[in-house]
Amino acid sequence: MYSEKVMDHFKNPRNVGEIENADGVGTVGNPTCGDLMTMYIKVKDEKIEDIKFKTFGCGAAIATSSMTTEMAKGKTIEEAMKISRAEVANNLGGLPPIKMHCSNLAADALHEAIKDYQKKKEDKK
Ligand code: FES
Repeated sequence: MYSEKVMDHFKNPRNVGEIENADGVGTVGNPTCGDLMTMYIKVKDEKIEDIKFKTFGCGAAIATSSMTTEMAKGKTIEEAMKISRAEVANNLGGLPPIKMHCSNLAADALHEAIKDYQKKKEDKK
């Protein structure tokens, strides 16, 4: 029921962990299941230089986060802000409909981390 790509990212998730002194941190909770996800970003010249995630979510949440971090790394803040839940799921070869809500966590947490980065930047001005 899961694509090979989902299984790969679930078994070998990329960019798991935490970034100390991250430039932006975003945490979101999934209203459907109550699981949590945090994304950390390090930004240089308006590009995502490093990104890591931590989740209490299920396998699908792990796979989508892993994919999201791969998609976001090296992108500009603006490009990363446009990464959508659907795009993440598509890049994984699709998710079972019942698991689509899990993919919301990753993209949302990424967007929150970017907003946090932008807010911190404003505060410094
Ligand atoms: S069941 Fe909670 S994130 Fe998938």
